[in-house]
Amino acid sequence: MALGTARPALPALLALIGALLPASEAQVRLELSGRNLHPTVTHENDSLLATAHDKANMEEEGTHQLSCVVTLGHQSRSWRENVTIYSFPAPNLTLSEPEVSEQTVVTVECEAQAGALVMLSGGVPARLPGPRAQLQLNASAEDNGRIFFCSALLEVAGQVLRKNQTRELRVLYGPRLDKRDCLGNWTWQEGSQQTLTCQAWGNPVPELKCHRKGDNALLPIGDLRPVTREVAGTYLCQARSPRGEVTREVVVNVIYHRNYILTTILVTVAFTIGAAGLAAYFYNRQRKIQKYKLQKAQEAAAMKLNTPATPP
Ligand SMILES: *[C@@H]1O[C@H](CO)[C@@H](O)[C@H](O)[C@H]1NC(C)=O
Ligand SMILES: *[C@@H]1O[C@H](CO)[C@@H](O)[C@H](O)[C@H]1NC(C)=O
Ligand SMILES: *[C@@H]1O[C@H](CO)[C@@H](O)[C@H](O)[C@H]1NC(C)=O
Ligand SMILES: *[C@@H]1O[C@H](CO)[C@@H](O)[C@H](O)[C@H]1NC(C)=O
Ligand SMILES: *[C@@H]1O[C@H](CO)[C@@H](O)[C@H](O)[C@H]1NC(C)=O
Ligand SMILES: *[C@@H]1O[C@H](CO)[C@@H](O)[C@H](O)[C@H]1NC(C)=O
Repeated sequence: MALGTARPALPALLALIGALLPASEAQVRLELSGRNLHPTVTHENDSLLATAHDKANMEEEGTHQLSCVVTLGHQSRSWRENVTIYSFPAPNLTLSEPEVSEQTVVTVECEAQAGALVMLSGGVPARLPGPRAQLQLNASAEDNGRIFFCSALLEVAGQVLRKNQTRELRVLYGPRLDKRDCLGNWTWQEGSQQTLTCQAWGNPVPELKCHRKGDNALLPIGDLRPVTREVAGTYLCQARSPRGEVTREVVVNVIYHRNYILTTILVTVAFTIGAAGLAAYFYNRQRKIQKYKLQKAQEAAAMKLNTPATPP
């Protein structure tokens, strides 16, 4: 149990300035309710400082009179001061279990010595002030790492002293792999800059592995700069911890344009070929018609020449 003193502090601090000269020859005696203390005396300029580090006993708890007597030659001066010896250990803060599974009821208790007041914090309103405080909670994943804090107050010789204590609760949960932290469907433009996030939660921290169905390729978690069509696929993510395992499907879709371009080129080529063919056909046909017309004209001319003139 720790022992301490209220003002003036023990080790006592006494400085007598001036009056007695030379200070280095002075004798100093420190007494606590008649018990001789063993001070260390230091001198500087015309003053001296006596410091005692004597241990206080538990039986000495309460108010005492400290006296300091300085003697120089035949002269002596004395000074008295009230000193309070107290004991004030930090409160005991206990958790029924420091590590629990989810949905386990945990009791948090804080206890200080009689006469002190405790305040237990941790999200719940403090109960009636007294030397004990208690609260219960149904542990959830969100309570993992929660710190409980208990502060004890004790009034000693008109001063309020404070001691505190903290405890951390650990909640075992998971593994968890939900939509919020691991989206199941990503659709991206090829060449864009994206970030793929997939995080599993739990205590202990689960191990996460994502493999593509078919070729077992790893899911590229993190920055994708730029997105390539090779990452597209359906992945199976598995989070595993000593508490179990969960799986989740993650689909990555990559939109790209080359197929459209190819189609456009093919259509254009087909159209051009078609148009050229048609043009050639019409040209040929026109030529044939012209040739035919010429032939007919020549025949007609020949016939005119061969026909003998009708005699008048
Ligand atoms: C002692 O005297 C020196 C010089 O006069 C001064 O700097 C120093 O602060 C004094 N020490 C104390 C404890 O008064
Ligand atoms: C010390 O305490 C006593 C009573 O406990 C009181 O009468 C006295 O005045 C106090 N002395 C000083 C120096 O405060
Ligand atoms: C703890 O909370 C969960 C869900 O909130 C509930 O299902 C369970 O019954 C609670 N356990 C106790 C002991 O109250
Ligand atoms: C705190 O716990 C210790 C050890 O269990 C015990 O000795 C001490 O009395 C307790 N203190 C209080 C204020 O209950
Ligand atoms: C709790 O106690 C420690 C040392 O005992 C101290 O350093 C800290 O400031 C205290 N915290 C509060 C919030 O009082
Ligand atoms: C994924 O998203 C795309 C586009 O947003 C949608 O067409 C598709 O149906 C979604 N697939 C699933 C499994 O949700």
